[in-house]
Amino acid sequence: MIDAIDHIGIAVKDLDEAIHVYRDVLGFKLEEVHTFNERMLKIAFFSLGESRIELLQPLSPDSTVAKFLATRGEGIQHLAVKVKNVEATIEEFKSKGVVLVDEKPRLGVGGNKIAFVHPKSTRGVLLELVEKP
Ligand code: CO
Repeated sequence: MIDAIDHIGIAVKDLDEAIHVYRDVLGFKLEEVHTFNERMLKIAFFSLGESRIELLQPLSPDSTVAKFLATRGEGIQHLAVKVKNVEATIEEFKSKGVVLVDEKPRLGVGGNKIAFVHPKSTRGVLLELVEKP
């Protein structure tokens, strides 16, 4: 069901500064930058072989990323894995008692379908399921 790591999400306070660090200092390849008003986030993706790094800056204190920054500070916020079918994975996990943040998929970058699994069920890691279009 779980195919591979799609990306690692890193919460940052200032996306422009973080892009400067990852691209210009560390040498990661910047792929795309998005403003996601529905999710109150600014996002940058860097390619890293077959997987990617996602930097996330909250645009509102109500964003879950803002809450993460307030309690944990900057750092790895979620792990995203590829699945063939998000709905089927949600149903399978629900039947096994896994706690989900999203009981229905939502729309991610590039038409991806995504859903989050609660850290309660993953030993403390917010897990994002990603289905590519
Ligand atoms: Co993500």
